[in-house]
Amino acid sequence: MSDKKIIIAIDGYSSSGKSTMARRLAAEIGYRYIDSGAMYRAVTLYALEHDMIDAEGNIDLEALRTALPSISIDFRPMPDGTQHTLLDGRDVETEIRQLRVSDNVSPIAAVKEVRAALTDMQRTLGRDKGIVMDGRDIGTTVFPQAELKIFVNASAEMRARRRFIEMSDKGEPVNYEEVLANVVRRDHIDETREESPLRRADDAIDLDNSNMTIDEQNAWLDKQYKRVINGE
Ligand code: DC
Repeated sequence: MSDKKIIIAIDGYSSSGKSTMARRLAAEIGYRYIDSGAMYRAVTLYALEHDMIDAEGNIDLEALRTALPSISIDFRPMPDGTQHTLLDGRDVETEIRQLRVSDNVSPIAAVKEVRAALTDMQRTLGRDKGIVMDGRDIGTTVFPQAELKIFVNASAEMRARRRFIEMSDKGEPVNYEEVLANVVRRDHIDETREESPLRRADDAIDLDNSNMTIDEQNAWLDKQYKRVINGE
């Protein structure tokens, strides 16, 4: 392990496996791991719980903007090495992964003030480097100076299949077509929003993991990290 600490930005499409690889790399090299998507999900849960999103998905922007400065988001390390997201001190890790949050998160993540507030928090978390952060705009907006940027992709069908299996394993009643529709809809909103859309940074390295095993993906990422740390 090296003493040199860097920022590692892993961006990409939803359910592309970026969190799995980011979390594993962080544990391996003793870095802090931050799931920026969990932060957008926590704000979405907050908005849902405070009736700021109606049945049609319309957001009460004024109420959300007013509430934003007082919403507290934090992470709690768990004994098994994972971490849970805290919303105003409450563990919301399970709730933020449910379909009602997934269905509403992209419009919330498109709100300019939400992005500004979360970007600030993310930069504070990365102040001392030694961090792996995954998301959609980490290499482009949050840390354009990141020393290592990865852009992960896989086909929509492959990503929907992975999410379907993950949710079924957790005992959630899910339907594959519904999950695929959610993935495609989120891709579209994430790519076309005005504020900080999902976009590959010019200096990012591409990874299409559609046909890779997790071990192959991890080995590939380790190689990229070592290359940067060794100044190659
Ligand atoms: O990675 P995820 O599926 O948990 O992300 C949830 C949503 O949050 C996703 O629809 C896009 C948004 N997001 C974002 O806009 N910017 C980030 N840095 C991370 C996530």
